[in-house]
Amino acid sequence: MKRPRFQSPTGMHDILSEDQKYFQKIYEVCENVANFYGFQKIETTILEETELFSRGVGVATDIVGKQMYSFRTKGGDYLTLRPEGTAPTVRAFIEHGMQNLPQPVKLWYFGPYFRHEKPQLGRFRQFHHAGFEVFGEESPIIDAQIIQIFYNILRELKLKNLIIEINSIGDNQCRPYYKKLLMSYLKSREQVLCSDCRHRLRENPLRILDCKEEKCQRIINQAPQIIDHLCGECHQHFKEVLEFLDEIELPYRLNPYLVRGLDYYTKTVFEIFEDSPEGRAQGALAGGGRYDVLVKLLGGKDTPTAGGAAGIERIIDTMKARQVRFRKEREPVIYLAQLGTLAKRKSLKLLEDFRKAKIQVSESFGRDSLKAQLSRADKIGVKYTLILGQKEALDGTIIVRNMKTGEQEIVKIEKVVREIKKKLKIRN
Ligand code: HAM
Repeated sequence: MKRPRFQSPTGMHDILSEDQKYFQKIYEVCENVANFYGFQKIETTILEETELFSRGVGVATDIVGKQMYSFRTKGGDYLTLRPEGTAPTVRAFIEHGMQNLPQPVKLWYFGPYFRHEKPQLGRFRQFHHAGFEVFGEESPIIDAQIIQIFYNILRELKLKNLIIEINSIGDNQCRPYYKKLLMSYLKSREQVLCSDCRHRLRENPLRILDCKEEKCQRIINQAPQIIDHLCGECHQHFKEVLEFLDEIELPYRLNPYLVRGLDYYTKTVFEIFEDSPEGRAQGALAGGGRYDVLVKLLGGKDTPTAGGAAGIERIIDTMKARQVRFRKEREPVIYLAQLGTLAKRKSLKLLEDFRKAKIQVSESFGRDSLKAQLSRADKIGVKYTLILGQKEALDGTIIVRNMKTGEQEIVKIEKVVREIKKKLKIRN
């Protein structure tokens, strides 16, 4: 087939009708969970000032360094298509004075995000996040609850075999010392590292810990681990998070190399995977953690914060691979067939009467052949077909055909909605 002249940009996809039901289902599950746990919905702007991300996410991260769609507007502003939702939510929290509301403030969001990544399994340039953020709570119970929220969402979507990976990356008290230790360990082995990691050594040494290159892995396996160098407060916080997770019996695994690709984290970081080779290859279904310094860094009051985001496309791909089924949408039980101009006109009005009565009706008004319409009704598998021909349209009647028994009866057109309701045992 000839390639069409215009296609969606590389790594970006239209969401066609066959995927809409997955999006709707995931949205519905997220919304129910959000309502249960007391989160309010927020929609931030798709474009933000570029500096929000360079300052918030960190200039040395891949997201800011390599993946942002940034441009200068005609008015001279530097804007960026949002690559993630946490910095924008913090911006909105500060801008709209939410610091003055009773804390905690709990916000959730669902929408498109943009990263100029190499398109591959589980990596797109336009993708969707469902994110949950809690402002104003420093207790480790919140870290555990955030993890529980994402775990519950994935379980509600019938995904099984999930594993939570968790780590603590300390805070401004203990991380600088650990970074120094790590640097001196890695510096002496610099020549063996991959070229990306040699670069990271100067910019962002912690990121070396989650490099997947085999030669780096051998070095990382012997590297000092942050968990052994946490300050008293971070150590206690992490211990309590794990105790809460034990209490709610969530399956987790400590991963001392989990550091995440965004600079704002403090203390807890986590990712949730499907625990299978395919799940690993695709990457995390959700990730997040605590980020106690970000609100202040972006100009607000000191506010402890924790949150996370799930990748909708990865969830959908996993649901498809595991053949997750969910309840069918409401299917039409009635088919309305018409023949002749007058019948067509009356059908249009009748369809509205059914819509108001909340009865799903299918039709093919564009078709004129009765045979074609009846065979369509058969294919859909409706219970009753209503046939409105020229004669019936003139008489003010309509034929009701029971598709199972083939029995037909004639009823007054103004009574047909009521008749059908009776047959379907629908009460008013
Ligand atoms: P993130 O790990 O960058 O975290 O993204 C969260 C999830 O989005 C990932 O676990 C993955 O499922 C999905 N994801 C990320 N990049 C892509 C991509 N290129 N294509 C498809 N899916 C992708 C954040 O963005 C943080 N803002 C999460 C957070 C919220 N932390 C605290 N609060």
